[in-house]
Amino acid sequence: MKSKQDNIIDMFDNIARNYDLANRILSFNVDTKWRKEACLKTLKLINRDHLKIIDVACGTGDMILNWIKFSKDSKILGIDPSINMLNIAKEKLPNEVKLIQGEAKNIAIDDNMVDVLSIAYGLRNVVEIDKALSEFHRVLKNDGILVILEFTKKDNENFIDKIASFYTRRILPIIGGLISKNYKAYKYLPDSVSDFLTLEELEEKLKKLGFIIPIKKRYVANLCSLIIAQKNN
Ligand SMILES: C[S@@+](CC[C@H](N)C(=O)[O-])C[C@H]1O[C@@H](n2cnc3c(N)ncnc32)[C@H](O)[C@@H]1O
Repeated sequence: MKSKQDNIIDMFDNIARNYDLANRILSFNVDTKWRKEACLKTLKLINRDHLKIIDVACGTGDMILNWIKFSKDSKILGIDPSINMLNIAKEKLPNEVKLIQGEAKNIAIDDNMVDVLSIAYGLRNVVEIDKALSEFHRVLKNDGILVILEFTKKDNENFIDKIASFYTRRILPIIGGLISKNYKAYKYLPDSVSDFLTLEELEEKLKKLGFIIPIKKRYVANLCSLIIAQKNN
């Protein structure tokens, strides 16, 4: 029988072709703005060129497009377990960007090698999250930056949060289902957010691993969170 993780990866293989279109429509294009802001804030903090950057759960390569645009002379590697998502990324990205198939819990890089590791809308899909976070800590250099952009769980919902939840629970799966012909995949999105961590729980895990958190931000009705963490030991 297939594991929960294998089923999640199969689901992304299945929706890869329409993934970008669905994102743009379902998020009213703000997913693009959040990725861009995550990159710009990180680069301002690190304030150097010639970086070694890894984008884990790179999917169709949208985060990498930002790293290419805004960082100077950086070496960029994308990692994702879904071959179909990677194939779309290959079509969009220049050949200098290396793409490899792999999971967050097992990154084929030596210790202390990476200046920046990003994961955008990916961590929620990683079943063994503690293993993955330790792996991120392992491959980052001291002072290296971990950038997490993710839909985090909310403990208490105010009125605006409830409207946003109604959209993600009731409307998003219908529109996503129509675009991708895969209702289940877009029903999975709000379910996976409810099963995920709150921003505070994620911060706690990172601090325990030895990260400090210079930047954190919540976006639109607390739906999405950005954490920029720095390896401190
Ligand atoms: C919602 S997409 C995000 C893609 C991209 N980062 C973006 O910003 O659009 C989630 C990605 O996580 C990948 N993924 C699923 N399980 C994973 C795992 N265990 N390790 C790394 N990536 C995983 C999927 O294949 C998919 O490409």
